[in-house]
Amino acid sequence: MKRMLHIIASPREDESRTLQVSDVFLENFKKKHLDWAIDELNLFKESIPSLSQKSVSGKYVLLGGKDLYGSLKDTWAEILQHIDRFKTADFFLISTPMWNFSIPYPLKHYIDVIVQPKYLFRYKENGEVEGLVKDKKMVVIISRGGQYDNNPKINFQDPYLRAIFNFVGIQDIEFIIAEPMDMNPELKQQRLEEAKKRCQEMSL
Ligand SMILES: Cc1cc2nc3c(=O)[nH]c(=O)nc-3n(C[C@H](O)[C@H](O)[C@H](O)COP(=O)(O)O)c2cc1C
Repeated sequence: MKRMLHIIASPREDESRTLQVSDVFLENFKKKHLDWAIDELNLFKESIPSLSQKSVSGKYVLLGGKDLYGSLKDTWAEILQHIDRFKTADFFLISTPMWNFSIPYPLKHYIDVIVQPKYLFRYKENGEVEGLVKDKKMVVIISRGGQYDNNPKINFQDPYLRAIFNFVGIQDIEFIIAEPMDMNPELKQQRLEEAKKRCQEMSL
């Protein structure tokens, strides 16, 4: 059975504007993919392993071209579970607000946990990077309090997400951005409706 991994990075549950838009996306997606499983990973509810001195040392073992050994394997058990859950998904949906010009900290934490050499990327003999998550599509639904098309220099959100997920091999990434959400209630409503319409009209 194919599986979509829905990564949620807003803690606001029913109040979340981002999730309002994602709900419409999911409705459309489910209609077109009746037999897919939707695997919801709520980063504010599930525990993501912290990166200690020992677990980070595993990254350097892998960067050195070696496999994890001894007690490092136990330290990495949870990290490897998250990597596997990510890597075996067939489609990715990320629902995230902007926080302080970037992404909320649990999403950055999750990225730091899963983006590991040997598993999500590798260095080829010529020194080039090869992303190991191939031929998969990602949709990122974002809502933001302000508007950034006139001030791209302080937007470290979608450019960062595109860069990091391109790095691991996901080239097909589509962004749906609802902004501005916190400036004018009418404009907010209009932009939310526009984002939802885009979700309804997406050919998936
Ligand atoms: C901690 C925090 C930081 C925020 N930082 C920004 C920001 O830098 N720029 C911005 O436009 N909005 C910012 N916002 C506003 C949210 O992006 C906006 O309200 C968004 O629609 C919230 O999404 P949600 O309802 O899905 O949680 C911030 C909100 C919070 C709670």
